[in-house]
Amino acid sequence: MTSRDPWWANAVCYQVYVRSFADSNGDGIGDLEGLRSRLGYLELLGVQALWLTPFYRSPMADHGYDVADPRDVDPVFGDLAAFDAVIADAHECGMKIIVDVVPNHSSDQHEWFQAALAAEPGSPERARYVFADGEGDEPPNNWPSIFGGPAWTQVPDGQWYLHLFAPEQPDLNWANPEISEDLAKTLRFWLDRGVDGFRIDVAHGMAKPDGLPSIPADELKQFSELLAAPEHDPRFDADGVHDIHRMIRSVVDEYPDKLALGEIWVRDADRFAMYLRPDELHQAFYFGLTEAVYDADEIREAITSGLQAAESVGSHSTWTLSNHDVVREVTRYGDGELGTRRARAMALVELALPGAVYIYNGEELGLPNVDLPDEVLQDPTWERSGHTERGRDGCRVPVPWEGNEPPFGFSTAEDTWLPMPPEWRELCVEKQLEDPGSMLSLYRSAIDLRQKNPAFTGNTVEWFAGPAGCFAFRRPGGLICALNTSGAPVPLPPGDLLLASGPLAEDGYLPTDTAAWLA
Ligand code: NOJ
Ligand code: CA
Repeated sequence: MTSRDPWWANAVCYQVYVRSFADSNGDGIGDLEGLRSRLGYLELLGVQALWLTPFYRSPMADHGYDVADPRDVDPVFGDLAAFDAVIADAHECGMKIIVDVVPNHSSDQHEWFQAALAAEPGSPERARYVFADGEGDEPPNNWPSIFGGPAWTQVPDGQWYLHLFAPEQPDLNWANPEISEDLAKTLRFWLDRGVDGFRIDVAHGMAKPDGLPSIPADELKQFSELLAAPEHDPRFDADGVHDIHRMIRSVVDEYPDKLALGEIWVRDADRFAMYLRPDELHQAFYFGLTEAVYDADEIREAITSGLQAAESVGSHSTWTLSNHDVVREVTRYGDGELGTRRARAMALVELALPGAVYIYNGEELGLPNVDLPDEVLQDPTWERSGHTERGRDGCRVPVPWEGNEPPFGFSTAEDTWLPMPPEWRELCVEKQLEDPGSMLSLYRSAIDLRQKNPAFTGNTVEWFAGPAGCFAFRRPGGLICALNTSGAPVPLPPGDLLLASGPLAEDGYLPTDTAAWLA
């Protein structure tokens, strides 16, 4: 870290899925006042910034990613005064606030979409969205929606509108200057209220390719994956998107020291890096570690590619093991004790890296995904896929704070918006704070060292040769991080041990599924 680095360059940021963090009024749904009441915990954890998922006016077809008014707070989450109080208190605790914006689509209940439905084909109201004529009962092209089913819905006069996500999320027409003017207004609205940055939803969407070409029929099968766009996906990453990011950047730069961070599900490293050019986004979520299986070679490859992409355009890397859209890493890595041991190791890998780290709420508690019964599922994917894809609810179960039974201090209501498993009594914040061997204690120690120890400096990593299934890298400041994904203990690189994700083996060997920091 140099004094010239912006605040986000190496920050540890914490994603608050507002709906699942803390409920202040007993309706079983997390809210802004609940978050405010728990800021002390986040300060204790040691994070430097919070990313808040959408709390804007919304009918909640996609839990807030369907925005009906981007410049107001939904009553479920509170009001503008509650938001102002969160930001004031967070700043008081030295934490920055990043808020989500959702420029690819609006809610179908947004006044613009309601006006578009009431207006004629070809009208200025329809021109704010992507309306098109189909061929009889066939939609304008064969694009599937990310949540399953077609990406087009027909309206009574026969036209179709595009929705890359749920039908309740009509895509905005970014060829229409009114759309960018409105986003600029939204950005300034929240900047004037003191936010420190934006997480831009589907930042590889928005621009649409000329002529909206169909996907070649023989490729359609790979397009059913949630969020991650296959290569040459005409729905995403159109060249025109970069002008939109230049516009966003110019507005954000009207205010000093503010962050534009994009959600970019683009796997091609060169195309990903284009979003990080000096006049576009400051940072983008890089999902290499989210997608890598638990294997040293694959993880190393993901790290190298993430570092290179950012470096190639003079930007700073980001790392993330999970978020509200993916299976939690404890479960991805094998669940139970095994998954937890591996998740502990990966926490040390991630927190050893140069760049920003984004932690998803509950990750620091080692929460697994929850197998929820069919009748409580709420993610639109469940219905849209004809009950073949369960969707993302399993990673969105509310955070357990204290006590011995659900709702574990998350709420005073017994019925939380998703049920909390009784076994989570072992994972509550209160229990883990007292236990030096807990996941939470590991995160606290790791974040503290990362902030204070001069070994964590320099933007590059140098790899050591090591046994198969293992890796070790060194940062210029002197930190060494070693990971063992092989089946047997291996010798540690030389250095003084700073922290390990689990007990070391005899003779100081690094056991399987363990990571260690040395300096
Ligand atoms: C990405 C968000 O993270 C996800 O939760 C949402 O469903 C889609 N964008 C659509 O807004
Ligand atoms: Ca509530």
